[in-house]
Amino acid sequence: MKSTRRGKFIALEGADGSGTTTQATRVAKSLGARGLSVVVTCEPTAGNIGALLRHLLATTKAGASGGPSAAEVGLLFAADRLDHLRREIEPALAGGAWVISDRYVLSSLVYQGVELPLWWVRAINRTAPPPDLTLLIDVPEIVARKRRAGRGGTHERFDHAAFQKQVVLRYRRLSKTFPRLQVVDGTRNPDDVTADILRVIARRRWLAR
Ligand code: TMP
Repeated sequence: MKSTRRGKFIALEGADGSGTTTQATRVAKSLGARGLSVVVTCEPTAGNIGALLRHLLATTKAGASGGPSAAEVGLLFAADRLDHLRREIEPALAGGAWVISDRYVLSSLVYQGVELPLWWVRAINRTAPPPDLTLLIDVPEIVARKRRAGRGGTHERFDHAAFQKQVVLRYRRLSKTFPRLQVVDGTRNPDDVTADILRVIARRRWLAR
């Protein structure tokens, strides 16, 4: 990233049902209340590639014949990420705003890594700059599954127990070596999870006192 005046870039990660979307909004609100300019973004994005991805996620099953392959989906996620960076993340950071992204590169390493070699998923995402902080909202698969059942909605490509079990395990495994990552216990109530995330951010000493 070329700009010198730059906000912080934080990615929220976790299995489906872990609460990344809820926490992105809550954390942004709290940081906004401290006078920071905060932009919340998400992947898949609302752009053209992101819209195609959402359609594919809602209408095809991982491993089933007929739909796009895991590699095709992986490349679309990587392309959507570049679109996300160019249209949303980089302009916001350059303007001095903080960016809270609901999912980023680690999602690809985890989800696409279930079906594809990790080295290849890393390679297609190599030009995406790392966040200043990645927060993994960790929840056991059974807890995430109950939450998904409770909220209803479309049955997506990755929304089945065997796949999500792998997702939870892979997040835990990759979190041990992923740079600038902090794990947060996502089983607690949303207020407590938000408070934990804000504590992690405060420890970074990025906030004016
Ligand atoms: P969400 O908007 O409910 O988080 O759904 C996005 C889905 O896409 C979720 O199952 C995670 C998955 N995903 C990937 O497989 N790879 C990626 O790189 C990203 C960003 C999301």
